[in-house]
Amino acid sequence: MTAADEVLLRERFRITGSDFEHGGEVSARIKSILKEIGIPVEAIRRLSIANFEAEMNVVMYADEATLTLEVFSNAVRVEVADRGPGIPDVEKAMEPGFSTATEEMRARGFGAGLGLPNIERNTDEFVIESEVGTGTTLRYRVSWS
Ligand SMILES: Nc1ncnc2c1ncn2[C@@H]1O[C@H](COP(=O)(O)OP(=O)(O)O)[C@@H](O)[C@H]1O
Ligand SMILES: [Mg+2]
Repeated sequence: MTAADEVLLRERFRITGSDFEHGGEVSARIKSILKEIGIPVEAIRRLSIANFEAEMNVVMYADEATLTLEVFSNAVRVEVADRGPGIPDVEKAMEPGFSTATEEMRARGFGAGLGLPNIERNTDEFVIESEVGTGTTLRYRVSWS
């Protein structure tokens, strides 16, 4: 994509911390939007992995977040900005297997420590910014030709 590319669709979604009951609904909703507008299936697959991991990290570790979806002619950009505790050591959090998930979260099948690495692996651009006591923002992009 180029800087001149205009945004074809911009939509915001709210994610609520600790709400395991609805956790995953935002990524599911986005998946159906992307299918509806005809984004290539491989791009949808990669985005859905990233969106689900980002959404569940907000549910597990943050208070709330706004996910902003932007669709361009050959790319999708996502920003997930949360209010929460932040991440003291981002480099460590990015290591495969690192997790601070509780026993309860592990019992729900989370806490493998592969969420952030999987977001990076499935996107063409990935930036994470975090401030302890304030929150964490992820920005990522998936492109196709
Ligand atoms: N939005 C967030 N806010 C605060 N901490 C986070 C957030 N996302 C991830 N983390 C921290 O980074 C660690 C690694 O995240 P991740 O790779 O998704 O693995 P997992 O969720 O399985 O623990 C988490 O255990 C947590 O300590
Ligand atoms: Mg995770």
